[in-house]
Amino acid sequence: MFLVTGATGGIGRRVVRLLREQAMPVRAFVRLTSRYGELEHRGAEIFIGDLQQEKDIQKACQSVQYVISTHGSDGNPLALDYRANIELIDQAKANGVQHFVFVSVLGADRGYEDAPVFKAKRAVEGYLESSGLNYTILRPAGLASNLLPLAERFRETGLYLLIGDPKNRTSIVSTDDLAKMVVDSVTIPAACNQILPVGGPEILSREDIPRILGRIFNKEPLIINPPMFVIDGLRNVLGFMNPQAQKNLGTFRTLLANEFFCTKEEIANLEAIFGFKLEPLENFLRRYLAV
Ligand SMILES: NC(=O)c1ccc[n+]([C@@H]2O[C@H](COP(=O)([O-])OP(=O)(O)OC[C@H]3O[C@@H](n4cnc5c(N)ncnc54)[C@H](OP(=O)(O)O)[C@@H]3O)[C@@H](O)[C@H]2O)c1
Repeated sequence: MFLVTGATGGIGRRVVRLLREQAMPVRAFVRLTSRYGELEHRGAEIFIGDLQQEKDIQKACQSVQYVISTHGSDGNPLALDYRANIELIDQAKANGVQHFVFVSVLGADRGYEDAPVFKAKRAVEGYLESSGLNYTILRPAGLASNLLPLAERFRETGLYLLIGDPKNRTSIVSTDDLAKMVVDSVTIPAACNQILPVGGPEILSREDIPRILGRIFNKEPLIINPPMFVIDGLRNVLGFMNPQAQKNLGTFRTLLANEFFCTKEEIANLEAIFGFKLEPLENFLRRYLAV
């Protein structure tokens, strides 16, 4: 049995689909408020719970052989990115789990002080590495599926909001490719006990994204490009009213202010381990936008 957390999220639902296509037994950890109908139709066992509750994690881990952690933090990185994953690892050990796959983030090891999600991910990585479990830690750059709502807005308006330096580099990964790597990690020996940076096959600058959308929709992009200090100003104002939200925005700022890309060697290594060619961003977008 595979336990998948974040099973209704961008990565998690694709992981459940792939596992069910292979007729694997899957327990999908979902919240009562989650949209889990599709997972149920695909034959996943639905476990309703809250990852902020230790007892829910304990129950969900019973009789599982594989744990795949893909959940996000919903504004509470301490409870979800950190504590829930530590509890999942402890329970995986207690239940003799054969392999634990953890979706971290590219740059988790860079020591960003102002980014709670990055700090939580790095702490969990260390805990998992020294747990004695077989593990695979995948550190993705930005996910292509995040761009789909922006692409739809672009289709209607031609507008693209680009905050920060347009020259910053990124290697956005096809969310389908990432889900495939997550699933294959438990069976491919070269992926066992590895920490792998995961990106798409090209290093793009952030201003390439509206250009790609312009090509797809045959529309000249109108780029709105506020500088970082506008975000910093907004964050400071927010800090007077809601200090916690101000802290959480630190992760968002870190993502906007830094470069997140994989080197050509890292991509070649991924393709060698997993045995398939990674999909360029434009292909992914054309597939989903049906253009
Ligand atoms: N998005 C990116 O560009 C990116 C880049 C690098 C790394 N990552 C990492 O990749 C992972 C998945 O990202 P994603 O974009 O696929 O996430 P997502 O679409 O935002 O999904 C988050 C998932 O976590 C679940 N969740 C949140 N709080 C929960 C709780 N208290 N109890 C149970 N489930 C809860 C959500 O359930 P509901 O459906 O109920 O909300 C949802 O299924 C995350 O760990 C993220 O840090 C993401």
